[in-house]
Amino acid sequence: MTWNPGRYLQYEDARLRPALELLARIPLDAPATVADLGCGAGNVARRLAERWPSARITGVDADDAMLARAREATAGDARFTFVRADLAQWRAATPFDVVYSNAALHWLDGHAALFPRLARSVAPGGALAVQMPDNFDGPSHVLLEQVARSAAWRERLGARVRSRPVARPHDYFEWLAPHVAALDVWTTEYLQHLPRRDDGEHPVLAWMRGTALLPYMSALDDAAQRAFASELATGLAQAYPPRADGSVLFPFRRLFVVARR
Ligand SMILES: C[S@@+](CC[C@H](N)C(=O)[O-])C[C@H]1O[C@@H](n2cnc3c(N)ncnc32)[C@H](O)[C@@H]1O
Repeated sequence: MTWNPGRYLQYEDARLRPALELLARIPLDAPATVADLGCGAGNVARRLAERWPSARITGVDADDAMLARAREATAGDARFTFVRADLAQWRAATPFDVVYSNAALHWLDGHAALFPRLARSVAPGGALAVQMPDNFDGPSHVLLEQVARSAAWRERLGARVRSRPVARPHDYFEWLAPHVAALDVWTTEYLQHLPRRDDGEHPVLAWMRGTALLPYMSALDDAAQRAFASELATGLAQAYPPRADGSVLFPFRRLFVVARR
């Protein structure tokens, strides 16, 4: 599976907002080192540098296209380093003052072990700050799984359906509490207003093409991708009916964790 930075950034405002709200909750004035896990195209890493201009920022990601975009966007700025690594294996050689991750860790399984490990990558007095989509009970996600498991697609896509990667807020609290001094866990549901698209595509389908659809599309050839997307679009149009101007309302829940070592 490969990422497409241009497509992901089509909804940059809506995707950036939770990143900034997470950042605002980190109670540190001048961390020296910051890790941005699953940094993607580096657009959030630049916001981290705006808040902490003297920090050295290390972005970690597994996707070459995303890393190339991140390096291009920060070229000539020695505060940034981008590293290719799989977060499932990543360990900090030296603990960071801030370990930050926006919209990435839901791509990994095994959070009961992952979150304590990340907490141990934070220096004493530092912070772990994570935001993940928690919209797996939303119609968009339920529909995606239903279509992928239907008779027409099961053979090609059934194995791509993951068990729910994000646990209950309580679980993160209990997993992290033994490792940290202070902990704040919360959820927010955004009522996202997605504008009508000139290409006529359902806006939620276009949103999903940037993220949740990627593992499914990467298993299909072009014709099958079109058929799968069309089937999904029919269900999405019922679940998120277009408003008079063609825009749609797309409620989207997200889970936030800020822990202080
Ligand atoms: C939805 S994007 C978020 C990018 C960025 N954090 C942002 O907020 O704009 C998710 C990113 O996580 C990365 N990612 C997913 N699984 C990963 C893994 N196991 N190891 C490293 N990076 C991973 C993807 O390559 C992608 O760039």
